Amino acid sequence: MDRIHLKPLISENDIRDRVKSLAREIVEDFTGASLTLIGLMNGSFMFMADLVRELNQYQVSMYVDFMRITSYGPSQITSGEPELCQDITLTIQNRHVLVVDDILDTGLTLQFVLNHLKILCPESMKTCVCLDKPGRRRVDLKADYTGFEIPDAYVVGYGLDYEGRFRDMPSVSVLSFY
Ligand code: IMP
Ligand code: MG
Repeated sequence: MDRIHLKPLISENDIRDRVKSLAREIVEDFTGASLTLIGLMNGSFMFMADLVRELNQYQVSMYVDFMRITSYGPSQITSGEPELCQDITLTIQNRHVLVVDDILDTGLTLQFVLNHLKILCPESMKTCVCLDKPGRRRVDLKADYTGFEIPDAYVVGYGLDYEGRFRDMPSVSVLSFY
């Protein structure tokens, strides 16, 4: 059994405040337009749930969908080859799309998703990530909306997991072994 240590990195309160300000930024950029949010499962579920509730406060007209990509094997090592497991069900042609993910790491997942959705002819496409590890990037990609930049460490909580665990934590912690 792994002996896991969790070191708090971002508190629940800081996340709540940042999600509120992200929603304000998004609303200002998309005045009046209706938005199609596409969350990447599983990691984005908690961020997505908080973000849509904040956006709802501004009476944004919204469509919500999810897609599932895998790029990680069972552990922390990325395979580097994202695969589509479950596609969106909505039509995004001529729609303003916002792709929402938990964390931007190498960037391979988001790049794969953007290339996949581009073919469906959305009116515009932007990206929103809760966390960003800029030090790990392997493709030239920057999110349009970023919650927090974090150091190159493996983090869990707020949707992010280690082998299926810790997704339920309302805050973000750095995971290490001892
Ligand atoms: P990328 O393709 O390397 O950018 O990886 C993005 C995906 O890898 C995210 O959607 C996460 O699911 C997962 N991931 C990357 N870094 C971490 C981490 O520190 N903790 C948990 N999952 C991570
Ligand atoms: Mg993910």
